[in-house]
Amino acid sequence: MTARPVRRPIGAITRGTTGHNRLRRSDRWISAVCGPLLRSSADARPLVVDLGYGASHITTYELFTRLRRVHPAVEVVGVEIDPERVAAAKPYEREGLSFRRGGFELPVARSPLVVRAFNVLRQYAEAEAWEHWDLMRSRIAPDGVIVEGTCSEVGHRAVWAALGAEGPRTLTFAARFTGFERPSDLAERLPKTLIHRNVPGERVHAFLTDWDRAWAACAPYGSYGSRQRWIRTAEALARDWPIATAPPAGGPARWRLGELTLPWTAVGP
Ligand SMILES: C[S@@+](CC[C@H](N)C(=O)[O-])C[C@H]1O[C@@H](n2cnc3c(N)ncnc32)[C@H](O)[C@@H]1O
Repeated sequence: MTARPVRRPIGAITRGTTGHNRLRRSDRWISAVCGPLLRSSADARPLVVDLGYGASHITTYELFTRLRRVHPAVEVVGVEIDPERVAAAKPYEREGLSFRRGGFELPVARSPLVVRAFNVLRQYAEAEAWEHWDLMRSRIAPDGVIVEGTCSEVGHRAVWAALGAEGPRTLTFAARFTGFERPSDLAERLPKTLIHRNVPGERVHAFLTDWDRAWAACAPYGSYGSRQRWIRTAEALARDWPIATAPPAGGPARWRLGELTLPWTAVGP
């Protein structure tokens, strides 16, 4: 009998930097925006993958505890390409939370309904990032969502794309109000597929320029606090840009958290 060939995980081991609560902004967005998807799933144990969780299990564990409040039987699998990081996470397994080795092929038993991959693709080349998006899209459930993004060391500045099986859907910016001077400071956290597009003539550049302008025009609202200024800026921007203005992804309830979501088509290359 010949042994079954072991498929090599797709991707490469990269830096494992991570930290407690670093991904809370994406966790709460996933809870709010993907919550209805998880709750309405025909699968009694909807599957969520946290891809590339890094040197510690902590962000996967936090995603698990937050999503268990949204759906009490959600199952979360942390997938990491570095076998040593998988071994280090294994002791933290529990009912509904497990860790395994793998890559962009998403080696799980069922098609995941949600995949979160944060601070993973930024370490690849742009052309590879598009290919890995395609591969992951081909592996999720038909109505599944991939949340792929980047954030600062402690998570105060974050930007992520949400993709469906059909392609990218939205782009979300999220910031701590004390974590930036002007909205375009978040450009440094754009996904790999957009970071090189922040140049004149590209839509994402036009958007960030308009956002800075609206932020400056709304400076007087800063006397009521940065949250009010952010909300007023979002309202002003919505006159010219198709930003989400209603739940679950938009409107004051999201803006007050320092978030802004708009369709990918508005900013994509
Ligand atoms: C910078 S850490 C990010 C950790 C965590 N997601 C965070 O944002 O705090 C990136 C991790 O992704 C892993 N990684 C890179 N490519 C991967 C792939 N194709 N599949 C699974 N893990 C991958 C690396 O080994 C590394 O541990």
